[in-house]
Amino acid sequence: MSAEIWAIGGGKGGTGKSFLASGLAMYLAGIGKKVTLIDADLGGANLHSIIKMEKPAATLSDFFERKVSLESISQETAIPNLRLVIGDIRTLSPDTIKYGQRVKLYRHIRNMTDDYVVIDLGAGSGLNTLDTFLLADKMITITVPEITSIDNLYHFLKKALFRKLNVFLADHHLKDAAKNTWRTRDENDIRTIKHLVDHFKTISPEVCAMLDSEFSQLNIYVVVNQVRHTPHNHIGPSVKSVIMKYFGVPAHYAGSISYDNSLWKYMDSGEPYFGLTSTATIMEEVGNIAWNLMENKQVKLLDISTEARYE
Ligand SMILES: Nc1ncnc2c1ncn2[C@@H]1O[C@H](COP(=O)(O)OP(=O)(O)OP(=O)(O)O)[C@@H](O)[C@H]1O
Ligand SMILES: [Mg+2]
Repeated sequence: MSAEIWAIGGGKGGTGKSFLASGLAMYLAGIGKKVTLIDADLGGANLHSIIKMEKPAATLSDFFERKVSLESISQETAIPNLRLVIGDIRTLSPDTIKYGQRVKLYRHIRNMTDDYVVIDLGAGSGLNTLDTFLLADKMITITVPEITSIDNLYHFLKKALFRKLNVFLADHHLKDAAKNTWRTRDENDIRTIKHLVDHFKTISPEVCAMLDSEFSQLNIYVVVNQVRHTPHNHIGPSVKSVIMKYFGVPAHYAGSISYDNSLWKYMDSGEPYFGLTSTATIMEEVGNIAWNLMENKQVKLLDISTEARYE
């Protein structure tokens, strides 16, 4: 059986993607799941520093440049059940990684035999990042409670869904229909991705059924990080509702993580910081998010200001 793939993205830099990816991977490994954590921040890989690994023997650079398997470059970590694929630390720009190299990476990721593969994405919304995000069984977006970060999350998802739609249209020889639709978008009152997808569904019952299955099977999760006070608890549910309304895809609010002013100390220390904070609130929160993801649950809107119960 192949692994379930979780990818963490979200557009804006510094929202906690690497923190969440490593936290989830460590939590899953801690409860006995076999996990590979992949640093897919091509051009900005840093998970090995976060996990405080020794100087890497092999990295994604080797995978791209030599005929080796992903399995063979994944390295044991100090945490039982957890292996790390160290990012591409030699490439300065992700644009220099060829499409064929990425396709090979995606094929190897899909063939991993762990229970879970957790992928940390870089900031931004380049094709590398979008395609890796779209590969995942669970697409996890993370934002901090700031409007610029939330905006970035929307733009990131919009681009990802556009990319998905474009790939679908190209695969089904519908590129001309796409061009026409775009030209006449004002007449047809197409203002959101949902309108666009709904419009393409009118082409034929077959296209409608295929688009329905492509988009209704998406699993988008929202995590809010660095929460500082109770009003921030409403951000996750609102972001989720907006995604569903304007993008027309299923979305879930997987939970939030408090701001922890002691995190930087662990980053500064020589110790793996998650180990040291395993009893801290933020690790409990990461654990709750992991369970919500594993069991396809989400935090209920009405519960967030009182006691967190799950549906
Ligand atoms: N809940 C939190 N409380 C306090 N600090 C946090 C929290 N989450 C992350 N940080 C800090 O924020 C900084 C950015 O985190 P991280 O590197 O995980 O972000 P990122 O989204 O991966 O960034 P990049 O886009 O550059 O890859 C780090 O210094 C991290 O320690
Ligand atoms: Mg990062």
